[in-house]
Amino acid sequence: MKLCVFGSSGRMGRLLREEAGNSVMACYDLIPPGTKADVPLPEEVDVVLDFSLPAAWKDLDRLLSPSSAALVTGTTGLGPREKEMLAVWASARAVFVSSNMSIGIYVLGKLLAYAAEMLAGDFDLEIVECHHSGKVDSPSGTALTLAGIWENCGGGNRRMLGRSGAAGPRSPEETGIHSLRGGDVAGDHQLHLLGKGERLLLSHSATGRRTFAAGALKAAEYVNGKAPGIYTMDDLMRRNGS
Ligand SMILES: NC(=O)c1ccc[n+]([C@@H]2O[C@H](COP(=O)([O-])OP(=O)(O)OC[C@H]3O[C@@H](n4cnc5c(N)ncnc54)[C@H](O)[C@@H]3O)[C@@H](O)[C@H]2O)c1
Repeated sequence: MKLCVFGSSGRMGRLLREEAGNSVMACYDLIPPGTKADVPLPEEVDVVLDFSLPAAWKDLDRLLSPSSAALVTGTTGLGPREKEMLAVWASARAVFVSSNMSIGIYVLGKLLAYAAEMLAGDFDLEIVECHHSGKVDSPSGTALTLAGIWENCGGGNRRMLGRSGAAGPRSPEETGIHSLRGGDVAGDHQLHLLGKGERLLLSHSATGRRTFAAGALKAAEYVNGKAPGIYTMDDLMRRNGS
């Protein structure tokens, strides 16, 4: 499998280059040794790995448009425009999308869905996430994904991003999301399920970024040669028999 790393000089890009070694045929970044996107994607590239930022996607689009290479993207902070771009790209190639490539977070999402079946309506969910000081988007894509799981399972669907001042009593419709930033934290997510007389805490800590890089490379193996469409961690984990 021949790979291209887009965002190759970033924290994730550097790790991916290290982990994937000789499989990496092309690197794109505004920062050297990455090449700028005005150099076309080499034809032999099977899968493009993207860990950049939404503002970089105009350049990613220039690279992808003339090619049918598959895409694995872990970029977060996606808005409606980026979601449209994903749909267009997926009409011509396999596109794997996940705001978090770690198996632990995948399992955390499943545990949350399981808990929601029994607790939604009676318990409140407050999500606390903590990331390194260089992270540009907040809340994290993972926190938003987890909030979406809670909402889809009947939990509160009014997102409250932080609390300050006299906001009044908490409504049962709310899902609180709180972002901490500092140091070199790779990524912590805590799900506080708060009931009357008891509370439950589900928690995940990434102890380093290697877990995300390894997950992205597994995703690349999975989508390589697949039919056009959107693929997610659910597809990857089903393949693994989970
Ligand atoms: N899905 C996951 O598992 C996962 C894990 C970690 C990080 N992330 C996400 O991945 C993204 C990157 O994270 P990071 O910590 O590596 O960030 P980073 O800021 O260290 O790296 C981003 C890189 O993109 C480059 N870039 C910017 N504009 C570009 C352009 N036009 N063309 C090419 N490259 C361009 C930057 O120069 C930088 O080197 C973020 O959105 C982050 O939230 C996802």
